[in-house]
Amino acid sequence: MANSEKVLHNAKVISFINMKGGVGKTTLTKEIGFRLTNSLGKKVLLIDVDPQINLTQSIFKYFNYAQSAEIAQKLKKQYANTDINSENEDVNFKNTKVSTASIKKVFEGNSSFPANLDDCVLTFPDSNLSIIPGELGIEFTTRNLNSAQLENGIYNFIDTQNLRSLFDYILIDCPPTYSSYTVAALKPSDFYVVPVKPEAYSILGINMLNKVVKTIVDDNHIFFKEQPLHNLGIILTDINSKPSTGIKNLIQDITSSKTLKNSGIGIFKTRFLHNPYLQSDIGYFIDASNAEKTSKPNLNQLVKEFQERVKKYE
Ligand SMILES: Nc1ncnc2c1ncn2[C@@H]1O[C@H](COP(=O)(O)OP(=O)(O)O)[C@@H](O)[C@H]1O
Ligand SMILES: [Mg+2]
Repeated sequence: MANSEKVLHNAKVISFINMKGGVGKTTLTKEIGFRLTNSLGKKVLLIDVDPQINLTQSIFKYFNYAQSAEIAQKLKKQYANTDINSENEDVNFKNTKVSTASIKKVFEGNSSFPANLDDCVLTFPDSNLSIIPGELGIEFTTRNLNSAQLENGIYNFIDTQNLRSLFDYILIDCPPTYSSYTVAALKPSDFYVVPVKPEAYSILGINMLNKVVKTIVDDNHIFFKEQPLHNLGIILTDINSKPSTGIKNLIQDITSSKTLKNSGIGIFKTRFLHNPYLQSDIGYFIDASNAEKTSKPNLNQLVKEFQERVKKYE
C-alpha cells in the first residue's frame, strides 16, 4: 500500500444486501467499487462474504489472479479449450498470480489474536483496490467456529487492524440467505444499500429485509448505539433504457409504496441500466470498458449519487 501512510483515511463501511438472489448485489459492489478506485482515485476495500464468491471471481479474473495453483491450472485448461492461439494461453497462465488471502482467516481470528492483515487482504499492484476474497463453501470450513465468533469477525478485524484509516470505502457483498455472515457484514456497517430488480414480489422482499435488519440491530443494540446503521437507499437494477409498460408499472409500485415511505427508505434517482456484457463476461467492468454512450455515464451518475448520499451523514 504505497503512500498510504501519509494520508489518513476514514472509511465508510457499506453493505450491499437483499435476501433475494440475482438482484445485482455483487454486480453493484464490483462496479461501484471499481469506479471509485479506477477513475476517482479512492482507496477501496471489497469484502466478499458470499459463499458463492462471485465477486472474488470477477475481480480475480480482471486482475489475473487465482486462489490456488490448482485453480490457476484449471484456468490454463479453460484457456486451452477456448484460445486458438496456444502461445497466448501460456502467457495467460504464466501471468496468473496466486493469492491465498481469504475471509476464512478473518473469521478464525478474534480480538485477542486478530488475523494477520496480509493473510486476509490482497491489494492489487498499481491499484487503489484491495479485496478480502471469499471462500467457496465457507459455511463448511468455519463450522467449528461458534456463531459469536463469526458474527463479530469482520467488526473485530476492521477495528484491530484499523482498516478505516487505510481506506475511503469498505464495500461488503452479502449472501442472499440469512446467516451469521449477514450479521457479520452488518455489525461494522455504517450503511446498507438494497439492490432491487423490479419483480412482482419486490416490495415483500424489501419488507422482509427491513425486518431482518431491525432484528439484527435490536439484538446488537450496543454496537449500533455507538455507530448507527443507516439505510442508504434502494437501487433499482438491470433496467432497460426503454422499459416495458410492465416494468414501468412495477417501478411505479415500488416508488409509490406507502410501506417504504413510512419506513423512511429512499430510492436512488439513478437506476442501474441493463448491460448484456455483465452477464456474458465476469471479467467485464463498465469503468474499464468503452461503453461511453449509456453504461459509463449511467454508472458515473450512480456513483455520484452514492457518494452524495454518504456525504449527507457526515
Ligand atoms: N445492469 C445489469 N445488466 C445486465 N445484467 C445484470 C445487471 N445487473 C446484474 N446483472 C446480471 O444479473 C445476474 C445477477 O446479478 P448479481 O449481481 O450476481 O446478483 P446477486 O449478487 O444479487 O445475486 C448476473 O448474471 C449479472 O450479470
Ligand atoms: Mg451475489
